[in-house]
Amino acid sequence: MLFQFLKKECYFNSFFIHVYYMYIKIFILVFLLSIIFVFLFMYKRGAYYQNHISHCGKLPKRITSTSTSDSFCGISTFDYTLPCDIRNSLTKISNSDIAKRVNVYQWKAGKTVSTQQLLKYDSKIINWYIDFANEVSKIIGEPVKHTSLDLPTSCVLLIYDEKDDFINWHFDQNHFEGRFFTVLIPISQDITCTKYLFKDANEEIQTIDHNEGNIIFEGSKVFHMASKLCDNQKRVVLSLQYATDDNISLYNSLLMKIKDMAYIGF
Ligand SMILES: [Fe+2]
Repeated sequence: MLFQFLKKECYFNSFFIHVYYMYIKIFILVFLLSIIFVFLFMYKRGAYYQNHISHCGKLPKRITSTSTSDSFCGISTFDYTLPCDIRNSLTKISNSDIAKRVNVYQWKAGKTVSTQQLLKYDSKIINWYIDFANEVSKIIGEPVKHTSLDLPTSCVLLIYDEKDDFINWHFDQNHFEGRFFTVLIPISQDITCTKYLFKDANEEIQTIDHNEGNIIFEGSKVFHMASKLCDNQKRVVLSLQYATDDNISLYNSLLMKIKDMAYIGF
């Protein structure tokens, strides 16, 4: 009797030990697969540094009216004078209190005025943004279109007005089906501590200042940042987004909304 009882107990014990080890194996497998998935996701999304412009020239070429369309490679400065009424309107907005501040430790600090706010404040700005796609198309040598006006970062005013406002090194994430470009047009005229920095074809850090003109770059290929603002300074820049194909999958649309919430705020 006792023998049979012990035998039964042993059977149950070994059964539970077997199940226990099976769960541990499944847990380890899921854990390893999750690490591989996160690594691949981050690699694909540009969190992992890689030089995508090693085939480009050392310095950004300045695009002029006489440049050929194949002059563009990754990043360039270009000449363009913003219409006075658009500049005045943007300056007024930058001096108002509608901008929203978002500070994320070690990633970014600064204020933004979203596409929707600009549209509400002065629809001329957004109409100009839409038309400016023609100029951008000429610069990169490929037709581009403005990105959706539902996106807060399609046409956005960036305002740095507190000490240490900046954005850290990053690639822009391209959620669109086509190539994706960002244009930066300085609105404020003062030279500040904040410079646009990027890593060139030879891994050297290049600096572009406000007075060197407007910047156009393919953010998913150019590793870039804005250095920290000094005390009692203000830097205002208009940022415009364009894409060769602005369609977005449902999955990418969701990711973009999350990114925009972190960038622009809720
Ligand atoms: Fe960026």
